[in-house]
Amino acid sequence: MTYMTPFTTWIDLKDGTIPKAASVQTQQLSDMRGLFADRQAEVALLAQNPLIYRVYNATNNAKEEGQLLYSTTVIYPGEVGDEYFMTKGHYHAKGDRAELYYCLQGEGYLLLQTPEGEINAQAMAPGAASYVPPYWGHRTVNTGLSNFVFLAVFPADAGYDYKTIAERGFAALIVAKNGQAQVVPNPNYLARV
Ligand code: PA5
Ligand code: NI
Repeated sequence: MTYMTPFTTWIDLKDGTIPKAASVQTQQLSDMRGLFADRQAEVALLAQNPLIYRVYNATNNAKEEGQLLYSTTVIYPGEVGDEYFMTKGHYHAKGDRAELYYCLQGEGYLLLQTPEGEINAQAMAPGAASYVPPYWGHRTVNTGLSNFVFLAVFPADAGYDYKTIAERGFAALIVAKNGQAQVVPNPNYLARV
């Protein structure tokens, strides 16, 4: 038996970055076309193409059963129309794989939905450890004025299904109403029949 060597990854708690990340993904508005509800506001803001979020992947662990992957996500503050900056959102390709999010900085929501369109929203602030149960699609939303940062830990073989969200959206949006975050129905949501 050959054993994997244990290791430690350091997260910079000042900004949530992982200085020695295995990889970093950067998402600008142009990478998220069609995901915000207010298409006109989205097109107008594309001229500036703001940075929406970054993911710092801690490891290159093999994507196999038994292994874990973990990463930090930094969502920058801002809005497209009245909808807060957010992640693309996904289901796990292996739907029965769960995930844990632990908030390090800022304030926001973990927005979840079942394949049938049931919605759940978990408010997050530093210290919140929020659980994504098997089968729930998930997206995070920065409802504050500073960066929203969290650590995600998940089974390495979970995989990503982005297509379902890209095609159907979430049944709810998180929008700013008089400076307050509100969960409202998404008029563009395409329910499964
Ligand atoms: O594994 C996760 O669920 C997170 O690390 C997300 O991948 C991350 O927050 C970015 O969101 P998305 O993958 O929906 O772009
Ligand atoms: Ni996930």
